[in-house]
Amino acid sequence: MKVAVTNVKGGVGKTTTAVYLAAVAARRQPVVLVDADPQGSAAEWLDIRPIPGVTVIEAPSERLVAKALARDGGVVIVDTPPGGERVVRNALGLVDVAVVPTRSGALEVSPVNAVLGIIPESVHYGLVVTAARTFTRDYHDTMAAWAEAGVPVWGTVPERVAVALGSEAELAPDALDAYQAVWRTLRRRSNRS
Ligand SMILES: Nc1ncnc2c1ncn2[C@@H]1O[C@H](COP(=O)(O)OP(=O)(O)O)[C@@H](O)[C@H]1O
Ligand SMILES: [Mg+2]
Repeated sequence: MKVAVTNVKGGVGKTTTAVYLAAVAARRQPVVLVDADPQGSAAEWLDIRPIPGVTVIEAPSERLVAKALARDGGVVIVDTPPGGERVVRNALGLVDVAVVPTRSGALEVSPVNAVLGIIPESVHYGLVVTAARTFTRDYHDTMAAWAEAGVPVWGTVPERVAVALGSEAELAPDALDAYQAVWRTLRRRSNRS
């Protein structure tokens, strides 16, 4: 199972999603977390707070991402840089599943559509609404809009201070629960192909 976490926009929760998904997937099998963002925030996070069962590979180039994805078996999760550049397109051509983190709100629609435009047809994809204020009108409008557009939403992760702290705190239990649900949906969808 090879998974890319991607959105052309920065600050939408890609790294957070990659790290939490790696943590929940690692409960069942070893996980390789590939940090394709030259900023290295996922690698730095795991340096500070290692997660049992998760190995990090820093892969800040197309060649290194391809090499990391050429491994056989197991779960590989790629955290991508923003921008939809070649390294991202290339990674999307090498995975089975794409997870697209997004915030809610009208401004987020066009970056999401930009990513959806570069996901190959053979790749399963779904959105994860991150840092969600689930009690707001904005959130409900966002969910309704994606449903109407026929874009699958695999999960919602509520906004939590403990998540915003990143590597400065333990992984937040309720965010882990939310990402566990995303992981389950992802597995179900990709096994159905
Ligand atoms: N569920 C959440 N609750 C609160 N803050 C969040 C949540 N998910 C992400 N964030 C915060 O949003 C910011 C951007 O997230 P990050 O994962 O770094 O995005 P990206 O990798 O897309 O740039 C970070 O400060 C992160 O802690
Ligand atoms: Mg990031």
